[in-house]
Amino acid sequence: MSMTTAEIRCAFLDFFASKGHQKVSSSSLVPGDDPTLLFTNAGMNQFKDVFLGTESRSYDRATSSQRCVRAGGKHNDLENVGYTARHHTFFEMLGNFSFGDYFKTEAIQFAWEFLTKELKLPAEKLLVTIYHEDDEAFDIWANTIGLSEDKIIRISTSDNFWSMGDTGPCGPCSEIFYDHGEHIWGGRPGTPEEDGDRFIEIWNLVFMQFNRQADGTMDPLPKPSIDTGMGLERISAIIQNVHSNYEIDIFENLIEDTAKIVGATDKQDKSLRVIADHIRSCSFLISDGVLPSNEGRGYVLRRIIRRAVRHGNKLGASDVFFYRLVAALETQMGDAYPELKDNRQLIEKVLKTEEEQFSRTLERGMNILNDAIKELDSDVIPGEVVFKLYDTYGFPADLTNDVAREKNLTIDEDGFKAAMDAQRKRAQQASQFDTDYNEQLKSNCSSDFLGYDKITHQAKVIELFAEGKSVELINDGQQGVVVLDQSAFYAESGGQIGDTGQLTSSTGVFEVKDTVKLGNAIAHKGVVTGNFKLNEQVNVAFDVERREAIKVNHSATHLMHAALKQVLGEHVNQKGSLVTDERLRFDFSHFEAVTAQELQKVETLVNEQIRMNQTLQTKLMNLEEAKAAGAMALFGEKYEEDVRVVSMGEFSMELCGGTHVTSTGEIGLFKIVSEGGIAAGVRRIEAVSGEKAVEFVQSRELQISKLAGLLKTDPDGLVARIEQMLERNKATEKELDKLKQQLAASAGADVLSQVIEINGIKVLSTQLQGVEAKALRAMVDDFKNQLSSAIIVLAVADTNKVSLIVGVTKDLIAKVKAGELVNFVAQQVGGKGGGRPDMAQAGGTQPENLDSALSSVHAWLNDKL
Ligand code: ALA
Repeated sequence: MSMTTAEIRCAFLDFFASKGHQKVSSSSLVPGDDPTLLFTNAGMNQFKDVFLGTESRSYDRATSSQRCVRAGGKHNDLENVGYTARHHTFFEMLGNFSFGDYFKTEAIQFAWEFLTKELKLPAEKLLVTIYHEDDEAFDIWANTIGLSEDKIIRISTSDNFWSMGDTGPCGPCSEIFYDHGEHIWGGRPGTPEEDGDRFIEIWNLVFMQFNRQADGTMDPLPKPSIDTGMGLERISAIIQNVHSNYEIDIFENLIEDTAKIVGATDKQDKSLRVIADHIRSCSFLISDGVLPSNEGRGYVLRRIIRRAVRHGNKLGASDVFFYRLVAALETQMGDAYPELKDNRQLIEKVLKTEEEQFSRTLERGMNILNDAIKELDSDVIPGEVVFKLYDTYGFPADLTNDVAREKNLTIDEDGFKAAMDAQRKRAQQASQFDTDYNEQLKSNCSSDFLGYDKITHQAKVIELFAEGKSVELINDGQQGVVVLDQSAFYAESGGQIGDTGQLTSSTGVFEVKDTVKLGNAIAHKGVVTGNFKLNEQVNVAFDVERREAIKVNHSATHLMHAALKQVLGEHVNQKGSLVTDERLRFDFSHFEAVTAQELQKVETLVNEQIRMNQTLQTKLMNLEEAKAAGAMALFGEKYEEDVRVVSMGEFSMELCGGTHVTSTGEIGLFKIVSEGGIAAGVRRIEAVSGEKAVEFVQSRELQISKLAGLLKTDPDGLVARIEQMLERNKATEKELDKLKQQLAASAGADVLSQVIEINGIKVLSTQLQGVEAKALRAMVDDFKNQLSSAIIVLAVADTNKVSLIVGVTKDLIAKVKAGELVNFVAQQVGGKGGGRPDMAQAGGTQPENLDSALSSVHAWLNDKL
């Protein structure tokens, strides 16, 4: 039996741990705080700042198995999935890293030892590439490892110069290839046949040396470092002696389950591979906090889900199916990634909702697309069709492209983009952007935060901005931004709003309206009275009362977060939070409305903790330690290696940089104000605490007392009184209905007295009072029934409008057509109408002519009958 994928993952991490590497868990697929990156696409992402030298860790060797998504941004494989044996949207990258510790020699030695000793790959099957100028690497492979020179191939292209993105750490690399043997077609790297499947790259060793800038310049890194990446699925394929990644154990099982669920019989069908690939990326993305949406990461997720659904549909899936694969994935990967287990319900719910939504338009969209394809006179699908499918039926362009590719067609991407741009412009015109005057500011300064324990202190002005520029002076009445070397003002972050207050210098007072972070600087935004100068000493004083109210709400938020997990389950995770002096708002993952009882339980638990008056503990801890201790951390949030952990007794432990009460008793009271859904699988709770909670309860009380007063009872009697009133109301309505019916019947009898006979045929032509136009049809039917054979003309009028209806019983329509008669009358009141021979309606605008028009009916009928 060859090793399973799970065993290979373990063997790799254990091997490098035995070589002094710290095992570090995979980071989230959503890169923390890195706007240059859409998704985590390599093991080194979480160490980017360590390579750049702006962050340090307690270890200088690390190893990880990193979950990666390459479905957007610089590395995008989405469109190849299903068409090749080795492309995935989601894969795991095994890596070892050196942060300025060992360099090329050890990196190469470790890799060689792992492959040939641990995994026992035959050395003669391996060959390597190096960057063409890298003589040092050549020398190590040839002389230290002893590889024959014909197996060391110099490559001059970017294939052997790896970079994370357009900017960031990069360097020359050496790739290790496995030769699957002569019986498989393909050439050595660097030859025209290299794309064949004979020589497969398994491991990339990057010798990190530079930081690439946006303008292309390469700054040397502080210390040469190592970053390696080996695709777990690829190495598994070799060890398990299969040709395609899709034949390794994990995929074989997933494909088996997929086939069962959609009822497919041909296990080789590429659609099964697409679905098995996509369930991995989608589940992990959702587990890491991404939700389907129309922009950014959420849109990539939506595209992948929809592509999977389309392939399921192609295989004949008759019902919503995609979410049912989450269980199968959990079986395959849940042990290595417990978060899959924790978030399973959420993942299923999100996938199900998205598939249901898309299924509604999938068939219609496919029909439109197939029709458009039939009418093509070239092999390009026009941009407008692609756009219409996108805009109306939710077909992402790459899905249309996928269908096109199956039929050997392409899509007009430029035409599609032009249509998208036109739409974007329209949308932009429709919305006005109000850019903050200092949104664009950048600061290179850094300020110390003193506000955990200081209220006022002295500080020095180290930077000033006005009108978007760095200045030396802000004048009287001017708006600006003040950066201090140290400040007790809390800068907005982690959901807690920025402090307000005053900075006072010898020449002016700066009224701080908000405080934000500019890089590492604490920036006070506001307006000056007098003036403010660079390098001056100032007195710093934030608004203490406001801060107290914020603290109370922030600590209450932690308690509520913990209580929600207890009441609803571990899948509850923070999706967003706002903590102000007025209230707190908390968004979290949960798949259905929280019931009134559950909300009450949460309130009770939180208030219990408040009464227990737990002392708050704050501790600086190592991130891994903190996580291991069970501290709640946020998805996608990037934390320093040393983190601040805030705990309240045994009840809550959370990573947090915010400000808090000293003991929970200060919160006083906690009260939930509202709960609702804001997106698929995301709920929002708003709550109040402290004084605001008391005010809230009091104002509710007051409303109840007022209500009781109005209903002449006391609050305790309110429910009974209202029930009684509702009962009475119902009875009154019933009575009213009965009276109305009686009235209508007697009015009808009255009207019937106006029937006359013309040549033996009953004719009724009259204007009704107090009847609504929409009641006319029913009345005509009623009169027809009562008279059995008759011609009926009814009209109602108000000051400027006439409504007419004509009914002719079936036996008479050979003689008189309702449409003709209604038009004859309508013409005289300035209108026209139409309808069936037995029933026709019309409107008119001259009520003053109605009487004479109705009288003319008799003469008209006299001629016809
Ligand atoms: N970061 C390198 C890669 O992704 C190892 O190939």
